[in-house]
Formats: sequence, structure tokens, C-alpha cells
Amino acid sequence: MSASDASTPIVLVARKLLPAGLDRLAASCEIREGGLDVGPERLRELARGVDAIVADPTVTVDEALLEAAGPQLRVVANFAVGYDGIDLEACRRRGIAVTNTPDVLTNATAELALALTLAAARHMNEAESDLRAGRWTGWDPSAHLGLDLSGATFAVVGLGRIGRRFAELVRPAAGQILYVARQPKPDAERDLGAVRVGLAEALERADVVSLHVPASEETAHLIGSAELASMGRSAILVNTARGSLVDAAALAEALREGSIGAAGLDVHEHEPHVAEELLAAPRCVLLPHIGSATVRSREGMASLVADNVLAALRGADPPNRVA
Ligand code: NAP
Ligand code: GLV
Repeated sequence: MSASDASTPIVLVARKLLPAGLDRLAASCEIREGGLDVGPERLRELARGVDAIVADPTVTVDEALLEAAGPQLRVVANFAVGYDGIDLEACRRRGIAVTNTPDVLTNATAELALALTLAAARHMNEAESDLRAGRWTGWDPSAHLGLDLSGATFAVVGLGRIGRRFAELVRPAAGQILYVARQPKPDAERDLGAVRVGLAEALERADVVSLHVPASEETAHLIGSAELASMGRSAILVNTARGSLVDAAALAEALREGSIGAAGLDVHEHEPHVAEELLAAPRCVLLPHIGSATVRSREGMASLVADNVLAALRGADPPNRVA
């Protein structure tokens, strides 16, 4: 819908939404799009008078944006499952619904955590870089020696949807699965033989530590120098959750000193900036936040965004409401 009248709801897509959601919204709403490079100031200009905002993990939805939008704003629909960029309290105070896109990206993100585990365990990025740079001079029995995952102890920190799926994927190879959670997960204990332990014990015992908790004040720098020092010298740290969970400088130092074996990171504390120390660190696989980047997941996420916005605009409770 290009033209609009006073009764046509306006949806601000803060950055970009895929056609699987955008086309459905455009059929009954006026769309404003910020584009991938939009900054906070331009976003506030575009927000004036909108009924819905589609955010994503890189968009900060704060008081200033909500205030700029005005009192008619009914929903902030996050094009992601993690909603740490949205000020939930500010939305609650204004009676604005907040929604996310769970489940449709669980497999894709858990699979990426597995891919990072394998890539880090076998130093794949450094081995490939050697090959591409012409440094490979022939089979070398002592080059790129990595970690066997068969029989390894895996620690899953945050046994929610993605953490649980990661545990299911590694179960056939794992010797033992440990998990760290605020509440016991009897289903995972029964189905996967997973054992609940505290973070300190998980870090000491695990060959692979995979992070799946949301970003929050409680989880900020959950993994810093003391935690890294307690991990084994061949242990691997994988983070597909949020960059703020890991102290990047401490991780780079642990990799340089060889106090842990390797790391695989999909997320970074100040995206798209990646800590210089990590770019220079050895045995570190770095990806640009592609956990949910499969066609099926991203289309599913876009479609859920449309479900949530359209429900809120017609006065119904949106299906994936988190606040
Ligand atoms: P989820 O189902 O809500 O799982 C998160 C789990 O973490 C919950 O089980 C929760 O515990 C637990 N938890 C929270 N704080 C904790 C703490 N301090 N200690 C231990 N456990 C804690 O969410 P999800 O769908 O699995 O997604 C998890 C996160 O992955 C998202 O928040 C997002 O940041 C990230 N993510 C990244 C990508 C990517 O592209 N890389 C894609 C999707 C998601 P309770 O069960 O007690 O509530
Ligand atoms: C991606 O990072 C998400 O939270 O869905």
C-alpha cells in the first residue's frame, strides 16, 4: 500500500524486513523503512506518528525513540528472539506490546553453535587460511592439531530453546552433557542425561562450553579472565548468544597465552565492531552474527513479525508477546 489515509496504520521497519513479512504488512499498512545504515536520530524522525516499530538486534528501542513515536504506538516487534536492545520497562509504562520471534530460528542457531564448535576444535579457519595463502607445503603430522569431540564433556550455559537443541545435536558424540540453569530441567536430565552444575564446575570440567543465555545485567561479562583461567588448556568456548556475555580482551589474552584451546564467536559486544585483540588472536573463529541466517529461519522470523504486528494493530494479543 503506497498511499495512506488517516485510518491506515503506519509501520516503521527500523532497518530491513524480508518480503515474507514485509509484503504482508504492506498489504494493509503504510511502511516506512530506515534501511541498514539508519542512525538513532533518523530513526526518531521516521518514528513520528507510527503505530508499530519493527526492531532487530542492532536497534536500540529506548525512551527517546518511544517518545518520538508518540502515544499511538501500539507494538514493538523484534525481528529476532533476543530483545536486549528494547527497554521493556519503558514499553510497559506506555502500554506498548513487545514481541519476538522464538522457535523458528532455534535449529539454525543451534546448528551454527555446532559448526563453530567443530571449526574451533579443528582450527579450521587457520588451516584454510594457510592453504589459501600458499603456506601449505604438504601433509604435516604436527600441524593444526585439534580436539576430539567424541567422548567430550559439553557444558551448555542456558538450557532454553537453543541451548537444549544444541545439547540434542551434540548428544550422540558427547561423553557427558553438563548444563547451567536457574531452574532444573528434568526433561533434559531424563532425555539427554544432562547434569545440572554451577558455572564454576561447568567451566572446570567441560571440553566445550557453549553460551545460550540472553544478555542482561546478570549475564554481562559472565565469562571474564577468572572464568577463562578455570577452563582447561584444550577447552573451547563458543558464543552464539550475545557478545556482552564475554570479556573480549580477556578471551584474546587467554587464547594468546594458550590457557584455553580455541573459541568460536558469532556475536560481539559492540557489533559490527569486532575487538581488535580478537581479530589478532590465534585459534579463534569469528563470524558476523549469522546464527539465524538460513532461508527457512529468516523467512519464519519475518513472518512472525508480521503476525505480531498485525495482531497488535487489530487489538488482539500478539502471539509472541514478551512484554
Ligand atoms: P530461551 O529459550 O529464553 O533460553 C534462554 C535460557 O537462558 C532460558 O532457559 C533461561 O532460563 C536461561 N537463563 C537466563 N539467564 C540465565 C542465567 N543467568 N543463568 C543461567 N541460565 C539463564 O532463549 P533462546 O531462544 O534459546 O535464545 C537464547 C539467546 O540466544 C537469545 O536471547 C539471543 O540473545 C541469542 N540468539 C542469538 C542468535 C544469533 O544469531 N547468534 C540467534 C538467536 C538467538 P530460564 O529457563 O530459567 O528462564
Ligand atoms: C538474533 O541474534 C536473535 O536474537 O534472534
